[in-house]
Amino acid sequence: MPFTFKDIIMTCGAAGAINAVLKALINPGDEVIILAPYFVEYLFYVDNFQGQSKVVSTRPDFLPDLKAIQEAITPRTKAILINSPNNPSGRVYDRTIIHGLGDLLSDYSRKGQVIYLVADEPYRKIVYDGVQVPSAFQAYSESIVVTSYSKDLSLPGERIGFLAVNPQAPIGTN
Ligand SMILES: Cc1ncc(COP(=O)(O)O)c(C=O)c1O
Repeated sequence: MPFTFKDIIMTCGAAGAINAVLKALINPGDEVIILAPYFVEYLFYVDNFQGQSKVVSTRPDFLPDLKAIQEAITPRTKAILINSPNNPSGRVYDRTIIHGLGDLLSDYSRKGQVIYLVADEPYRKIVYDGVQVPSAFQAYSESIVVTSYSKDLSLPGERIGFLAVNPQAPIGTN
């Protein structure tokens, strides 16, 4: 499905994008799953909207541990924030993991609990040796990509980023 302007919002970097997404998604007390190790500011972003961060450890290879994520989900879980290529581990989440996560979240959607997958991808273009970064949009419809040009164009001071809502999601940016 093609993008339209209503699916994309320009933001002040990825930080602005994540904050805009969390402001839209969470009510006080809602939970956001964050995978450790994580970009430290995530906890402050969730806290900005009185959300609760639920930190879940990754596997020893720094890939998401789907069983641990499932165990961390509660009726208050509103979103999971992932970051691939990851800061700080450098790990790129492969297609199997992204689709496994999408399948897990789809199970909850089918049961009536929508858990948004927020994919923070400011390092998407900084990969080498033919490594591919799989698309969260192809794995799960209720997904939102947040990104910035701070890293790939080395322009952190310019604060240029955007958020993109999966065109297949039953939500829009307006
Ligand atoms: C994983 C991750 N997400 C978000 C950000 C914030 O990016 P920006 O400076 O574009 O707001 C950073 C910055 O270091 C980051 O490493």
